[in-house]
Amino acid sequence: MEKIAELKANTLNTAEFINEKAQEISRTVGDGLAINALSGGVDSSAVTMLGHKALGDRLKTYFINNGLMRKDEPESIVSIFKKLGVKVEIVDAQARFFKALRGITDPEEKREAITQTFYKDVFAKLVKDSGAKYLLQGTILTDVDETVAGIKRQHNVFEQLGIDPQEAFGYKIIEPLVQLRKDGVRKVAEALNLPKSIFNRMPFPGPALSARVIGEVTPEKINTVRIATSIVEEELAQVSAFQYMAILHNDRVTGMRQGKRDFGLQIEIRCWNSIDARNAKPTQVAYEKLEKLASRMTTEVPGVVSVTYNIASKPPSTMEAV
Ligand code: XMP
Repeated sequence: MEKIAELKANTLNTAEFINEKAQEISRTVGDGLAINALSGGVDSSAVTMLGHKALGDRLKTYFINNGLMRKDEPESIVSIFKKLGVKVEIVDAQARFFKALRGITDPEEKREAITQTFYKDVFAKLVKDSGAKYLLQGTILTDVDETVAGIKRQHNVFEQLGIDPQEAFGYKIIEPLVQLRKDGVRKVAEALNLPKSIFNRMPFPGPALSARVIGEVTPEKINTVRIATSIVEEELAQVSAFQYMAILHNDRVTGMRQGKRDFGLQIEIRCWNSIDARNAKPTQVAYEKLEKLASRMTTEVPGVVSVTYNIASKPPSTMEAV
């Protein structure tokens, strides 16, 4: 496997990069059609804009509602792109993802179930129905590194694992951002005139909130972690950090409510400082803020009796718990 040549953010000429990649996409797709899935993250947003620059209406962009997204996420992303002149169609695939995740507790098996549902089920059908031959996606170098190193199977890495998407799923994958890391993608996204809410957007993993539920993923648990995520995102919005998140643990602990025993849920909060996600340190969040978080979690998230703040660094931790 050929080594991918990294393009560092500090020496990146974004205008040249955008022109080169748009031309490459045009050449590869020819006069055919391509599709892509937009999640609203900076990677898939940059790919969406690059693809539309290269292909115009011959790129069909979908938002896959896998049921694992944050509160109001599908509608808000579609509306941001509407303002940019990009039409995005929402595909309701919630039932398919929850079915695929049923009964699975192992983190890597969960990731695999999501990968298979995305690529074999949802995309394969979209490709077939649309007549497209290519899927454009925003894989970046860190995704490839961590997957190849066996740390985490990122949902969007195939070729580097010896998987041919054409053989496995019936279509080819184009990855224009694969030489970049997050800081480089942000520069490209800004140069593509995406709004700050997108080019500065906090990273969010492909497996979405299922990466934040330890143990089996169910609609109820996703709902719990979704409420906890909104609280963390509201409370930590002013903290300068790379990423913050709420994690729902699988084990219950003894708590008490109204004088009675309550064997309740545990939420772990993480807030990371990092440049490129390869290493990370917990942010020194003010104690008053942590107390406010604890108070909101135990009153606003049904069933929560314990709230912890992670103080370990990556490595040996990773940023997501799954
Ligand atoms: P970890 O947990 O590996 O996360 O330290 C590093 C960064 O990558 C994000 N992440 C993912 N992104 N698909 C993605 O698109 C994934 O499977 C995935 N796993 C982790 C994570 O949110 C963090 O920013």
